[in-house]
Amino acid sequence: RLRIANLHKKELTFKFVIIGDFGVGKTSIIQRYTDGEFSSSYKVTIGADFAVKTLEWNEEIRINLHLWDIAGHERFGALTGIFYRHAFGAALVFDLTRPETFKSISKWLIDLRKKVSLPGGIQIPTILLANKGDITTKTVPIDIDAFCKENGIISWFVTSAKDNIHIDEAMIRLTAAALKNH
Ligand code: GTP
Ligand code: MG
Repeated sequence: RLRIANLHKKELTFKFVIIGDFGVGKTSIIQRYTDGEFSSSYKVTIGADFAVKTLEWNEEIRINLHLWDIAGHERFGALTGIFYRHAFGAALVFDLTRPETFKSISKWLIDLRKKVSLPGGIQIPTILLANKGDITTKTVPIDIDAFCKENGIISWFVTSAKDNIHIDEAMIRLTAAALKNH
């Protein structure tokens, strides 16, 4: 019976892009989320990378998340436009141990908004991840709520790829928002 029910499940695919400066933990967050693993050694992403996570959203809907991991070194470069194409959501990531990576978020956001939108010019849902929360949370910008509000960011989370903090919650929040646009 279960098998038959599953055959009738509606299957959706959403493309999400994960962006932010080099070394903030984009690849680590995706790896934690898709493989349940974390590595403390830093392997710089070249160009872009890609991973899939399947969510049994409810009894009727299965969602395949295509997570696109762009190299921080691509910084608002010519490639990002190709990478963003058909994105249905975005996670902006900064590193709580390096305040300058939060400053860059505005630039990533401008690049994103300029290059991708939904039909009708609607902004794609975007969340903000303050990563490496296992090291410190004292550096969460005091104006982060206002920043999100001003920039149409739907939610922010302190995350840790190392200790698996708030990554599931964040991705569910983004997926729920994307689902409304479907
Ligand atoms: P680029 O590919 O260069 O854009 O970097 P990235 O954003 O993909 O960063 P990556 O995931 O490779 O992580 C960079 C370094 O930070 C690695 O050494 C990771 O192990 C470490 N790191 C990532 N996330 C966390 C975290 O939540 N906590 C801690 N303590 N370290 C982390
Ligand atoms: Mg990477």
